[in-house]
Amino acid sequence: MDFFIDTGDIEEIKAASEWGIIDGVTTNPSIIAKTGRTQEEVIKDICEIIDGPISAEVIATDKDGMIKEGKELAKIHDNVVIKLPLTEDGIAACKWFSENGIKTNVTLCFSSNQALLAAKNGATYISPFIGRLDDIGVDGMGLIQEIRHMYDMYGFTTQILAASVRHADHVKQASLIGADVSTMPFKVIKQLFHHPMTDIGLAQFLADHEKSKK
Ligand code: E4P
Repeated sequence: MDFFIDTGDIEEIKAASEWGIIDGVTTNPSIIAKTGRTQEEVIKDICEIIDGPISAEVIATDKDGMIKEGKELAKIHDNVVIKLPLTEDGIAACKWFSENGIKTNVTLCFSSNQALLAAKNGATYISPFIGRLDDIGVDGMGLIQEIRHMYDMYGFTTQILAASVRHADHVKQASLIGADVSTMPFKVIKQLFHHPMTDIGLAQFLADHEKSKK
């Protein structure tokens, strides 16, 4: 499973990249707004830190506008993946990018039928939003399971990118189901490391080592 970090915070990206476990980065307009900088500036900086897929989202809502914006974003770096909303225009634009060799991440996916549409038009990634479904009382992980089953049945190569991940158990469950990628906020990546037994065990080892030093 690939690990992406879901942030525009350059310090977080640098810190996580030091751990050697980050394969890519996702952003969205809300994430970019928090940085107080332009999308282009943020994406350029990220591309210098992480050598992997970096998702940058279009703002246009019509197909031609999405294609125009996406073409500009794709010029920033070969690793840029064009993030498109799961709308009629977004799915049509996805087909254009697929046919023109530009990678896409179809976002705001909340149903398996939507995931089928993205796969049919050659999306590189589909982003089902687990946490936002859980928030409205719908089983987000169940959606990942349905999409995995459908894609495997029909041999679709679109990668399932588990998004809107809120805690470490989401990562474990998505990985057990066979999601290809989890994109996580920095705080969730940190949660993956921690277990109280590790802390207790390490404290004991260090204390015993002190006793054995004479
Ligand atoms: C990732 O591509 C999404 O933009 C992100 O995971 C959304 O997460 P949220 O529901 O916590 O905003």
